[in-house]
Amino acid sequence: MSDATHPDQSARWDYVDDYLESQFAAGDSAQAAVLAAQRGADMPDIAVSPMHARLLGILARSIGATTVVEFGTLGGYSTLHLARAISPDGRVITHERDQRHADVARASLDAAGVGHKVTIRVGQALDNIPALADDAPVDLTFIDADKRNNATYFEAALAVSRPGSLIVVDNVVHGGDLADLDNTDEYATGARAVVELAARDKRVEATVLQTVGRKDYDGMLIATVL
Ligand code: SAH
Ligand code: DHB
Ligand code: MG
Repeated sequence: MSDATHPDQSARWDYVDDYLESQFAAGDSAQAAVLAAQRGADMPDIAVSPMHARLLGILARSIGATTVVEFGTLGGYSTLHLARAISPDGRVITHERDQRHADVARASLDAAGVGHKVTIRVGQALDNIPALADDAPVDLTFIDADKRNNATYFEAALAVSRPGSLIVVDNVVHGGDLADLDNTDEYATGARAVVELAARDKRVEATVLQTVGRKDYDGMLIATVL
């Protein structure tokens, strides 16, 4: 995480997330098992936070989503929340480059009882974008993979969306690097590319929520398709 994270405040964000998770996410063994499997496989600790995972579920439920697309599966933590939020005959199509990540996610999602709702497309997500045409209309897309391709994934999501579909992009603030124009690493440029695209694109109405918490200072872009 970036240096822009404020050191003397971050402990408070963590305490608040501890409290919120004790209220909202305690006793969910499937959820804990997904994170434990991920840790056990030495995968990076970069899943969305429990409270942000709940936001994804709430967004999916609030539009009655049945078809969800995700870019970036990791161990299936965000996938679990999206799969739970859709109807029994709904489907999450999630993209993962790393076969090992996909294997861990598959095992965890099966164990959580939502495996039948999830298709994992393994490989470079860019190569699997053409296949999404057959899955349209897509109700919600969650973009959380390699940041350099954020704008491409956003365009791909738009191409298969319908009016009222949602497109959510993780990590677009990245400790404030979004607005630090001197920062030209792939997180900053990938974030700026998709934020500037969503801001000017007449096909969507979008906002960015800055967030703090267990994952420090970051933010999500949320767009609805007009
Ligand atoms: N959405 C997950 C976290 C995803 S982390 C959650 O919140 O639980 C990002 C994932 O994207 C990693 O597993 C990484 O392997 C994958 N990834 C990175 N580049 C990719 C690409 N080009 N195509 C597909 N997956 C990619
Ligand atoms: C990274 C990726 C993420 O999706 C995230 O939420 C946090 C960090 C990363 O690549 O470092
Ligand atoms: Mg992320």
